[in-house]
Amino acid sequence: MCGIVGYVGFQDAAEFLIEGLTKLEYRGYDSAGVACYTDDRIEIRKKVGGIANLTAYLQERPVHGHIGIGHTRWATHGRPSDVNAHPHGDEHNHYVVVHNGIIENFMELKRDLQAKGHVFVSETDTEVIAHLCEELDTGDFLETVRKVLATVEGSYALAFMNRDFPDTLICTKKDNPLIIGLGEGENFIASDIPAIIARTRDTYILNDGEIAVVTAAAVRVIDREGRPVDKKVHHVDWSAAAAEKGGYEHFMLKEIYEQPKAIRDTMAMHIRRDTQEVYFDELGWRPEDLQGIRKILITACGTAYHAGLVAKYYIEQIARIPVEVDIASEYRYREPLTDAATFCIVISQSGETSDTLAALKEAKRLGARSLAITNTVGSSIAREADAVVYTMAGPEISVASTKAYTTQVIALLLLAVYMGRINGKLSHAEEEAIVRDLLAVPEKCHQILEDVDDLKTFAKNYGFAEDVFFIGRSIDYAVAMEGSLKLKEISYIHAEAYAGGELKHGTLALVVSGTPIIALVTQDAVKEKMYSNIQEVSAREAIVIGIGFEDDPELDHFVRHAIRIPRTHRFVAPILAVLPLQLLAYYAAITRGTDVDKPRNLAKSVTVE
Ligand code: F6R
Repeated sequence: MCGIVGYVGFQDAAEFLIEGLTKLEYRGYDSAGVACYTDDRIEIRKKVGGIANLTAYLQERPVHGHIGIGHTRWATHGRPSDVNAHPHGDEHNHYVVVHNGIIENFMELKRDLQAKGHVFVSETDTEVIAHLCEELDTGDFLETVRKVLATVEGSYALAFMNRDFPDTLICTKKDNPLIIGLGEGENFIASDIPAIIARTRDTYILNDGEIAVVTAAAVRVIDREGRPVDKKVHHVDWSAAAAEKGGYEHFMLKEIYEQPKAIRDTMAMHIRRDTQEVYFDELGWRPEDLQGIRKILITACGTAYHAGLVAKYYIEQIARIPVEVDIASEYRYREPLTDAATFCIVISQSGETSDTLAALKEAKRLGARSLAITNTVGSSIAREADAVVYTMAGPEISVASTKAYTTQVIALLLLAVYMGRINGKLSHAEEEAIVRDLLAVPEKCHQILEDVDDLKTFAKNYGFAEDVFFIGRSIDYAVAMEGSLKLKEISYIHAEAYAGGELKHGTLALVVSGTPIIALVTQDAVKEKMYSNIQEVSAREAIVIGIGFEDDPELDHFVRHAIRIPRTHRFVAPILAVLPLQLLAYYAAITRGTDVDKPRNLAKSVTVE
C-alpha cells in the first residue's frame, strides 16, 4: 500500500524523506512526493514513477527546510500521475497532507466543498482533506484536524502540515498503521518501521483514533476525546529485512494476515454505509444494460481464474445469467463463440498478464463489452477494458497470490448481487443476508487467522507427502482448485483438486493408505454427498482433513482431522474456507524449506505468452 514519512528536526527534511521513501519502495508504488516548509510557505514536489524521478526533479527544483512530509502512492482513486501523487494541498498550500487508506465519503465532501468555491485539481479522495482543513480552519492546528476527522469516514493514516505552524506536524490513524520515531532534537513519522530504523529504534505506535502533535523537541499524543495519552516507548529490534515484512517471516504470511483489511477496504467501495446497499458507481448499470447480455464470459489465469470459477456460481445462482469461465491462454485459440451479446469479465491482480490482456482484446474484437477486475490502477488491462472495478488488496509482493484472490472473490460476489438486484432476480431479503454475512467477514477472518496451531501440526506431519488431493463439491470444488494450486506452487508437493463425485471415475485408483486428502464441506446442499465421497477415500485408508463449519456436528465423525471455520452464508464460505488452505500451503512450504515468496520457476507478473 502507500507509504508515509515525516520529519521535523535540525537536519535537511527532504534528505530524510527521500531516504525513508526509498526504504518503503519494496511495498510497491506508482508515484512519490514530498512537501517541505521553506521560505514562509509549503512547497510540494511530486512525480509519477520511481523515486529516482522525484530525486531528479528535486535536483532541478530543490526544497530545503527542517520539516516535511513525504509519500509513495499506490493508486486507488485516479490513475498514477504527477497531479494525483501526494502530498495534496488546498489552493494556497495552507494545509498539506499525505494519506494512506480510503476516504469513503469523499464524493459528498468534495461536492460540498466545490459548492463553497474550492477548486480541486486531482482525482484523489485525499485532496478533500486538505480543502476541508482550510474550510474548517479555526486558527488552532490541532482543533482544526479534530474537526476534520469528525467529518471524514473511512480508513486512514494521515500526516498534516500547516503553513501557520512551521514547526509542527500532526498525524493520526484509523485502520492503517502509523508510528512516530523518537530522536534527539528531531522526530519522525512513518507508516512502516523500515522507513526510520536507520535513524531511530525508539517509537510510539499509534492506536486508532489517537492524534500525535510532533515537534522537534516533543511528541504529544491525545486520544479521540482529546485526553492526553501516556504512550509507552516501543523499542524495535527487528533487522531491516524483518522490518520490511512487518515482523512476519515472509511476505506471503504478511499478506495472508492483511486479508481482513484488504477485504474491508474492497467492501467499503461497494456497500453503502448507511443503507448497506450494494453499488458500483463506476458501472452505473440500469436494467436495460443487462437485458442484451446472453452470456457472461470470465477469463483469467491461475489464481484469478479460480476466482472466476467461484464467480460462475455467484452470477448464475444470483443473477441467473449463464457464465462460461475460460483460462485466458485457451480462450484465444478455441474459436470462441463470443459476440455483442457476450459480456466479458477479465480478472487480473497485476493487470499486466499477457494472456489475459490478449483474451480481453480478442473478446472485444469479437464484439463483447468488457469489464476488468484488477488490483492495479492504470494497468494495461484496466486501460483496455470498457469498465474497471478495482480490488483494494494493495500491492502483493509474494508470488503466491492470497489477498488479491480473496478481494477478487469479494468484488465478484458484490458484482453478482448488483446484477441480481438490477435484473430483479435477487430478492431484497437474500441481498440483505449476503451483505450481512459479508460485513462480518473481516472479523471471522481474524478468528481463523488467530488459531493456526492445528494447521502447523498438519503441515509438519504431512509436509513430506508425495501427493495431496483436494476435494469439494459445488463452490467448494472451485476453492479446492485454489488450495491445490497454493500448495503445489510454494511447497512443490504434487497436488490435484477434484470434484468429490469425480473421484470414482478414475482418481480413486491413486488413493492409498496414508494419502492426505483435504476435503471442503461448506455447502449444505451437497454436504451428505460430500460425506459419501469422504467415506470412499477413508475406506482406502486416506487421511482426511476436513474443512467445515464450526457448528457441523458430523464433521468430526467423518474426517481424521477437522478444521473449523465460523458459520456463514454459502456464498461467503469460499472466502473463509480458503484461509486455512493458504496457511496449510504456507506451513507445508516452511516444513520443506522452500523459497516461499519466490517459488522456483515462477514470476509475480507474467507479461509473456
Ligand atoms: C498463483 C498466482 C498466479 C496468478 C496468475 C495471474 O498464486 O498468483 O496464478 O494468479 O499468474 O496473475 P494476474 O492476476 O496478475 O493476472
